[in-house]
Amino acid sequence: MRRTLPFALLFLVLAATGLALAQPPSGIVRPQGQGDKPLVQQGSQLYAANCSSCHGIDGRGVTTPPIRGAGNIKGQGPSLRGVGAQAPDFYLRTGYMPLSTPHEQPYRTRVFFSDQQIRAMTAYIASLAPGPPIPTPQPETGSLAKGLHSFTEHCAGCHQVVGEGGYVTDKRVPTLKDANATEINEAVRIGPYYMPKFSRKDISDKELNSIIAYVLHSKNPTDRGGWGIGHIGPVPEGLVAWFIAIFALVSICAVIGKRLSS
Ligand code: HEC
Ligand code: HEC
Repeated sequence: MRRTLPFALLFLVLAATGLALAQPPSGIVRPQGQGDKPLVQQGSQLYAANCSSCHGIDGRGVTTPPIRGAGNIKGQGPSLRGVGAQAPDFYLRTGYMPLSTPHEQPYRTRVFFSDQQIRAMTAYIASLAPGPPIPTPQPETGSLAKGLHSFTEHCAGCHQVVGEGGYVTDKRVPTLKDANATEINEAVRIGPYYMPKFSRKDISDKELNSIIAYVLHSKNPTDRGGWGIGHIGPVPEGLVAWFIAIFALVSICAVIGKRLSS
């Protein structure tokens, strides 16, 4: 019995952690029987249940020291008045929101809301104050060559030339492989988290269409003369060389070993 006790305890702890990890962030709440209410009203209820602990009543933001709110979260977050439909559409469709704690970096994850619920919350947040609408980019009007040029100038410093992402100091820069045209357009105009925001003066809509065309194109780069290996340059290439070399060396040793022993 004495011996099994630590194992039983360990098992319980592991089981509890497993359960905690399996919960969606911040305990998503979906008010029932909403189908026939106007979109903005559905959105306001979803907002109150899932977002207000950090973004405050009526999207006013929570700047005072964290309080415990819905989902038992210590809330703190910026005001959403004036972000329009653009930012909630981006932050909800990428799964960036809701965060579990106010201090983590938002990242692309499973989306916990249906399309209808996202449209409802977006409509509600957009109704709080005037702000930018969801953009409608036209990458087919852009030029790949100009896009590559602008991407290199404005984005590649963080996102690398073919949009693979990487690290800037301790911030994670995501790959652009998962973003669609609308999300790329939104990200550039919003500047989520550590990313700078680009106004129409920095990057015109026309130039942005070219950047989007280039980013979408670079999702499937044509690998001239060989193997892409993740398209992130010399480090993985070196690793692959090492793997091949190690495999070759081990094979040679095995052959020599066999010869010697027979
Ligand atoms: C200073 C570094 C920096 C620059 C310059 C930059 N970004 Fe970003 N970008 C980021 C970071 C960091 C994130 C992640 C934001 C987050 O976690 O909330 C991001 C996120 C994105 C996303 C969302 C990707 C996803 O799937 O989560 C897109 C799309 C994007 N950037 C496109 C661009 C484009 C296009 C440009 C150039 C016009 C650009 N970025 C310039 C740092 C940068
Ligand atoms: C645990 C706290 C927390 C919760 C819960 C949360 N947010 Fe956020 N939210 C933040 C923080 C912190 C930021 C700032 C992050 C950044 O700059 O990218 C943010 C940023 C945003 C932004 C971008 C604002 C801007 O100025 O561009 C939007 C939109 C947003 N949240 C919507 C939502 C919605 C909708 C929900 C509910 C489904 C939600 N958030 C739930 C903390 C939270």
